[in-house]
Amino acid sequence: MIVSRSIRGIRRIIQAVKKKGQVIGFVPTMGALHEGHLSLVRAARKQTDYVVVSIFVNPTQFGSGEDFRKYPRTFSYDKELLEKERVNLLFYPDVKTMYTEDFSTYVEEISLSKYLCGKSRPGHFRGVCTVVAKLFNIIQPDVAYFGQKDYQQAQIIKRMVADLNFPIRIKVMPIVRHKDGLAMSSRNQYLASNERKVAPVLFEALSLGKRLIKEGHKDASFIKEKMVEHIKKKCRSARIDYVSVVDHKKLVDVKVVKGKVLLALAVYIGRARLIDNMLVSARKRKMNDRQEN
Ligand code: PAJ
Repeated sequence: MIVSRSIRGIRRIIQAVKKKGQVIGFVPTMGALHEGHLSLVRAARKQTDYVVVSIFVNPTQFGSGEDFRKYPRTFSYDKELLEKERVNLLFYPDVKTMYTEDFSTYVEEISLSKYLCGKSRPGHFRGVCTVVAKLFNIIQPDVAYFGQKDYQQAQIIKRMVADLNFPIRIKVMPIVRHKDGLAMSSRNQYLASNERKVAPVLFEALSLGKRLIKEGHKDASFIKEKMVEHIKKKCRSARIDYVSVVDHKKLVDVKVVKGKVLLALAVYIGRARLIDNMLVSARKRKMNDRQEN
């Protein structure tokens, strides 16, 4: 695995790879790698010829009161993991390389970014789009891999790629969870041991929402109420940012569940702001369905 911290170095290597006609797969990350990240790397390894991973804790996607400074940084461990996965090239720039002093151009998606995490993290997706656009221009991948864990992020990146004509295919991979249901996340490291024990309530709440929908419930307020109730009952100290039932494409709240919806939530447990989601297809209901079953 080649590790490069410079854009010029990366460009030289990528040029040679492209000359050989190899298909480039790219996985952007902020490091503190876990099985969730590695599932993306493995998909890229399987589906493309040349795998590039980036590790960059991107300051422009963190708000002023957020955890940029404290975000876990575990570079040498990450590097070992990526070597084991037979990654070809690791891009590990520092902040000055990505953002020169006179940097003043941003990429902003203005529709999907208004909802869910966009409401409580103003500017977050602008930072994400900007850094991902830069990384795409530097790496020039054929395929880029994102996790459903950050569903809204993946949708916004797809939008950006379509709107700005990046010649890149975006693949979204399933959420990797711990055995008890908690979605893997670098931010789980912030959880104290008692908090870690109750953290599966988020997955339980999503599963409850899914069950209610599958049972035929359509009223989004009712479903959200039950999900919130479950979280509060099992974890008194949880602070709910949002629990939402949204259209899986537009990300706007739905009142009545119809077709495919996204159940999405963001909840603080201790100092960790955890997000999770689940796609659910409402059952097509025949007349007298309930009596029949
Ligand atoms: P990061 O949080 O490091 O995540 C990198 C990628 O791993 C994202 O696409 C994310 O959705 C995916 N991922 C994280 N946890 C996962 C899990 N449990 N299962 C499946 N995939 C998972 O997302 C970012 O970094 C940044 O915003 C970035 C795109 C790199 C831009 O800075």
